[in-house]
Amino acid sequence: MAGSRIVAMGHYQPSRVVTNDEIAQMVDTSDEWIRDRVGIATRRIAGDETVADMATAAAGKALANSGLTAADIDMVVVATCSSVDRSPNVACRVAAKLGVTAPAAYDLNTACSGFAYGLGTVDHAIRAGAARNAIVVGAEKLSDFTDWTDRSTCIIFADGAGAAVVTATADDEPAGIGPVVWGSAPEKSDAVRIEGWQPYIAQEGQSVFRWATTALAPLALQACERAGVAPSELAAFVPHQANGRIIDGIAKRLNIPDAIIAKDIVESGNTSAASIPLALSKLVERREVPSGAPVLLFGFGGGLTYAGQVVRCP
Ligand SMILES: CC(C)(COP(=O)(O)OP(=O)(O)OC[C@H]1O[C@@H](n2cnc3c(N)ncnc32)[C@H](O)[C@@H]1OP(=O)(O)O)[C@@H](O)C(=O)NCCC(=O)NCCS
Repeated sequence: MAGSRIVAMGHYQPSRVVTNDEIAQMVDTSDEWIRDRVGIATRRIAGDETVADMATAAAGKALANSGLTAADIDMVVVATCSSVDRSPNVACRVAAKLGVTAPAAYDLNTACSGFAYGLGTVDHAIRAGAARNAIVVGAEKLSDFTDWTDRSTCIIFADGAGAAVVTATADDEPAGIGPVVWGSAPEKSDAVRIEGWQPYIAQEGQSVFRWATTALAPLALQACERAGVAPSELAAFVPHQANGRIIDGIAKRLNIPDAIIAKDIVESGNTSAASIPLALSKLVERREVPSGAPVLLFGFGGGLTYAGQVVRCP
């Protein structure tokens, strides 16, 4: 059974940069408080772009970077929790705009863990022989669901998209996507919510914080173990960019002082399902991680859900 690997990444961010000072003009907060408690300096907020527009832009870049063409792609998966349209799904819109004909195309909603879930399902489809070349996207326009009068959430969430092209490995080639460790804590389903007919993001901040800094490090270590990679061998750790203190807390428990710890949250905010592929795409673009080096991805968020795997850097 062949495995799969990421061959290329791409990302898209809206051009509008929103600073903490700008948010402090809307709600009672400060640049110092936000940097200190959440680790965000700026975030990108979309204008007219839809989730599908951002997903298409990121997927198009990933495809161009992969050396494959639209004709090679037979599966498109989009992880998102913020698409306004119910149908068609975002994956079909992305496929139509890129000229991918007849792919298996579906959206997946596990909120902030969505990209790692998507990568897991695509890897499984390729291993099962149900697909050969896939595009996996994480895309969010959370500003559509942000209450700009709620200082506990409007400082955190933002917009953007990241994408990976995943292809089957040759029989004699090692797998580039390790076994996924995934699951959920459904008893904590109220901890992060976008509910109802005029939905706004709401969260129990402290409950999420406690869960993320206590439950997740052992699960991330499990992903390393299942991939046969010692934490000390990791070139980089790319967790969901939820909060700078959560990222530091998990990284400390993994004990990986030599690995690059992705901190795209500083400039991009929390973009839910988009945050891991955005951060990984930037590391690849800046050539900060050597091609083939092991990178631990770990997503977590609404549901509550989590998923992670060790991948070989494209
Ligand atoms: C949301 C979060 C930043 C709040 O930080 P906290 O240290 O837990 O803060 P608390 O909720 O205990 O509130 C402490 C005080 O700060 C205030 N506060 C909350 N947001 C504030 C803001 N943006 N600016 C200034 N003060 C703020 C609160 O009103 C409270 O004031 P009080 O003591 O006078 O009542 C933090 O809980 C967090 O990041 N949690 C994780 C959330 C997350 O990652 N969600 C995404 C999951 S994918």
